[in-house]
Amino acid sequence: MQLIDPYKRRIEYVRLSVTDRCDLRCGYCMPRGFTDFAVPEHWLSIDEIQRVIGVFGRLGVTRIRLTGGEPLVRKNLPELAMRLAVLPGIEDLSLSTNATRLAKHAQALRQAGITRINVSLDSLHADRFKQITQGKLEKVMTGLMAAKQAGFQPIKINMVVIAGVNDDEVEDMVEFCIENRFTLRFIETMPMGVPGREASEHYVDLQEVRKRLEQRFELLPGVMPGGGPARYVRVAGSELRIGFITPISQHFCATCNRVRLSVDGTLYLCLGQDDKVELRPLLRSGAIDAELEQAILSAIARKPERHEFREKPEQQIRFMSMTGG
Ligand SMILES: C[S@@+](CC[C@H](N)C(=O)[O-])C[C@H]1O[C@@H](n2cnc3c(N)ncnc32)[C@H](O)[C@@H]1O
Ligand code: SF4
Repeated sequence: MQLIDPYKRRIEYVRLSVTDRCDLRCGYCMPRGFTDFAVPEHWLSIDEIQRVIGVFGRLGVTRIRLTGGEPLVRKNLPELAMRLAVLPGIEDLSLSTNATRLAKHAQALRQAGITRINVSLDSLHADRFKQITQGKLEKVMTGLMAAKQAGFQPIKINMVVIAGVNDDEVEDMVEFCIENRFTLRFIETMPMGVPGREASEHYVDLQEVRKRLEQRFELLPGVMPGGGPARYVRVAGSELRIGFITPISQHFCATCNRVRLSVDGTLYLCLGQDDKVELRPLLRSGAIDAELEQAILSAIARKPERHEFREKPEQQIRFMSMTGG
């Protein structure tokens, strides 16, 4: 069975937010002092998540990414990962994290079946890192080194490029990733929620970043297996691949293959639109799997064609932390 949306796109990827909470407060993602989180009674339990992802697996979904908020603030994440990794149809289980708690959990997550990992890192300077995220760079670095030791492959660094804040660090980040054999992805700021809209005032067009990098590095055409929306180049004389994620300057909606499930069981059909279907009421009212399948199929039939960040800048979209990018 396959999930095909009205625009003939095959949906084979679910981004699963296991919590909307986070131990950091990146300025573009979550407002400082924000407390309006999903209430614990609404969090899908590990059993409920396993069941829904099992249904997605039967509907042809092959890839799951655990995200948040910060997924590692959710208790028992390795146990959840272990249960999802063995579900029929699920071939690829990955994680997006800020890495503050990775040092403790890297080994267990790797053993649980997570192979690929993305880590947010917007600055290599502790003071700037603190200014952007309110957190400690040192913890992230320790987490990253633990991830290397645990054998995740690839480890991708995600850097949101923000004008006047960290855009002078793109070359340093390239050097850092070459040295550590990480993959690097630059991301354009998206106007998600109030923080994302405010941060978009410091938007940087990644086409400009690419031109700047070309003055110092030789960039060759590159591909990345399972690379998703990023457009990749390779840096000559190194193993480094650099991806440019350009939702604003060059959107990639025509090849969208994903939907997002939030911690309270809401299925969001597009990152930049609020179309959604609540699966929690079904899960908690004794619905059988065939009913869940039907709800997912009719949701996919309503997947929007694309986001309209540029055309409708006034549109109020949820914070990024609710669905994890
Ligand atoms: C919401 S986080 C969730 C996972 C984890 N906490 C992390 O930081 O990797 C996922 C990704 O979304 C990115 N992000 C958050 N808000 C954004 C925004 N307004 N524009 C672009 N990227 C954003 C983050 O930088 C991060 O790479
Ligand atoms: S980007 Fe990730 S680490 Fe930063 S506040 Fe959002 S969820 Fe937390």
